[in-house]
Amino acid sequence: MQPRDLSDHVAYEAGRGIEEVARELGRDPSEFVKLASNENPHGPSPAAVVALREAASSVSSYPKAAHADLTAAIADRWSVTDEQIWLANGGDGALDYLHRATIEPDDTVLVPNPGFAYYGMSARFHHGDVREYALEREDDFEQTAETVLDAYDDERIVFLTSPHNPSGSTIPLADVERIADETDEETLAVVDEAYGEFADRDSAVALLEGDDGFDARDDVAVVRTFSKAYGLAGVRLGYAVVPDEWGDAYTRVNTPFAASELACRAGLAAIDDDEHVNRTVQTTENSRAYMREHIDAHVWESEGNFALVDVGDASSVAETMQGRGVIVRDCTSFGLPGCIRITCGTDDETERAVETLNEVLADLGLAAGDADGDGATDTDIDAEVTDT
Ligand SMILES: Cc1ncc(COP(=O)(O)O)c(C=O)c1O
Repeated sequence: MQPRDLSDHVAYEAGRGIEEVARELGRDPSEFVKLASNENPHGPSPAAVVALREAASSVSSYPKAAHADLTAAIADRWSVTDEQIWLANGGDGALDYLHRATIEPDDTVLVPNPGFAYYGMSARFHHGDVREYALEREDDFEQTAETVLDAYDDERIVFLTSPHNPSGSTIPLADVERIADETDEETLAVVDEAYGEFADRDSAVALLEGDDGFDARDDVAVVRTFSKAYGLAGVRLGYAVVPDEWGDAYTRVNTPFAASELACRAGLAAIDDDEHVNRTVQTTENSRAYMREHIDAHVWESEGNFALVDVGDASSVAETMQGRGVIVRDCTSFGLPGCIRITCGTDDETERAVETLNEVLADLGLAAGDADGDGATDTDIDAEVTDT
């Protein structure tokens, strides 16, 4: 027998790992730096590492107390009820739960293009269809209510990513509110804030709570993760913040013990480790500024822990950089074959990435002022970006 028809489904393409690349090239892993998956360059929260060690001996039990304690701690952090926090196996797991709770067969979701591939993948797992709205590179991937509403056609879920992967653009809360207002009562606006800590902006949780002059709403949900600012990508821990009215749905859709004992203990320790988050955010800000200032190609302004760079030929540049020990993300799979995405590293890693990229651009004839490789000087990037 065969699995069901999966011809509409696509495989997730993760950023490449150091071990994998080193093995393939027959080199020592220590020669490489990986800036391809938007991970935390300072590693996990040190408090979480201690908690993980201490929790190791209790993993023979199901994570009942830890799950409840972490839910309460996160609810407290956002001033919402415990029922509004849906813990999950990463932000990805939270996206699954939102689909499980909303999608009937053949419902449709609206996702950004370019954008995070898992929205569409998860919708399809849940027998939903996928439509896209375009974020235009000539508009610097600007996100507005109009862009989304122009494409909207009564979808059940509208996905907004703020900061957006891979561009780093954000959407103002007033625009999220307008989208929620002007879409059908049965449409949920999901604001994915996986990179929220890196943006100097209020969370869309304000729209659920009715804070900051917004009316409290029952048609917005927010997704957050411990993978990025807290450095816990490997433990798989994220959550959705859902409207008050939705609390009851979680127990009906979640996989029992949605987050593991280790994940919950790590999350409980990390959520109070402000020092680690602040250090991570500071390093990210330095790295973004350094990349924008020193890269010999157009770098979009980003509010995430990464920067999108217009190199003209992503696959050649990413492959050549990899050969020189710096692994970055070729954005061809995002539909941006001219762009690479570089994760913000430590100061040393960022400097190495920038130096390597500039050398590669020069060696491939894509150098400063000619990021699109057409031989013309890109004195006006905005005028040039359409021609790659
Ligand atoms: C925009 C966006 N949302 C959600 C996620 C999911 O992250 P995780 O499942 O590690 O929490 C990612 C991961 O890279 C992402 O880029």
